[in-house]
Amino acid sequence: MVAAIRIHRNGGPEVLTLEDVAVGSPGPGEVRVRHTAVGLNFIDTYFRSGLYPAPGGLPFIPGNEAAGVVEEVGEGVTEVAVGDRVAYGSSLGAYCAARVMPVAPLVKLPDSIADQTAAAMMLKGMTARYLLRQTFEVKPGHTILVQAAAGGVGLLLCQWAAHIGATVIGTVGSPEKAELARANGAHHTILYRDEDFVARVREITEGRLCDVVYDGVGQATYPASLDCLRPRGLFASFGNASGAIQNFSLLALSQKGSLYATRPTLFTHVATRPQLLENAADLFEVVASGVVKVPVNQSYPLAEAAAAHGDLEGRRTTGSSVLIP
Ligand SMILES: NC(=O)c1ccc[n+]([C@@H]2O[C@H](COP(=O)([O-])OP(=O)(O)OC[C@H]3O[C@@H](n4cnc5c(N)ncnc54)[C@H](OP(=O)(O)O)[C@@H]3O)[C@@H](O)[C@H]2O)c1
Repeated sequence: MVAAIRIHRNGGPEVLTLEDVAVGSPGPGEVRVRHTAVGLNFIDTYFRSGLYPAPGGLPFIPGNEAAGVVEEVGEGVTEVAVGDRVAYGSSLGAYCAARVMPVAPLVKLPDSIADQTAAAMMLKGMTARYLLRQTFEVKPGHTILVQAAAGGVGLLLCQWAAHIGATVIGTVGSPEKAELARANGAHHTILYRDEDFVARVREITEGRLCDVVYDGVGQATYPASLDCLRPRGLFASFGNASGAIQNFSLLALSQKGSLYATRPTLFTHVATRPQLLENAADLFEVVASGVVKVPVNQSYPLAEAAAAHGDLEGRRTTGSSVLIP
């Protein structure tokens, strides 16, 4: 038996229940992984609340991101071996000390990347990678707006985009978060709880506006995010931290300058093994070389997952957070 957090009914952080669960042996194509660190992500709160239904129904173990060591491999597994340090960012069931899971989402970790760093960056870092290189290919000279720039994905986006050579504007909820975003690559920050961020973007860009807006905030920044885009710019809406956008208008894209809009998700970008390995290799390179640092600014015992969810939803975290089994 191992410690795990399970959800028996959707609701607030109080539905995260610490339990002992049995972990069997891996079947064909599966491995047993002992977790050393588990990543905390906003998506975990969507599965908990029921905004995103868990594919297998209730009860379920939440979490999609973790790092650890392979303890046992099932028949036909060639991708990893017993004793390998591994990590993943796209497999539901991570809030536990050990699990049996399909091998497909696992990648081997280079020695240069510590377990807690890995657990804090697989989902968020692979997301930053596809947003910057696939959703919109950011190039030197582009101007980008990152909503919630001091968050887990936000700080990675700021650092990586600044390294590419883009001008990065980041919105943040407090002066402390502004300072952190600037220390992580944002050239300009906007306190969007106090300031009109559209007016500030217009001022900063001298009316040219942004090539792309990366928006994980959702309802609270819609439709204003569209007003930060130059004609034919891209609205990349990749999350719902303030709630899912309810009133999306296709016509507004025409009225605001032939804009493009997309609502991407990591899972479709790492659906095949080659896609996963290509994305992870890029991420490992920028992290190992120090171009992108992964700030693990909060750490909680796994048993305190409810407190971690409360802090994340209460906007009290910055950068990444991990749960330690
Ligand atoms: N589509 C994908 O592939 C994908 C993958 C990973 C993450 N995401 C999304 O990316 C976003 C960021 O994820 P994350 O895990 O890195 O979280 P995070 O950014 O560390 O935390 C969310 C941040 O959003 C801001 N926020 C604004 N309004 C909020 C509200 N009403 N309630 C709570 N927070 C609010 C807060 O920053 P301020 O205090 O600065 O406002 C908060 O710290 C989430 O929407 C997540 O779902 C999407």
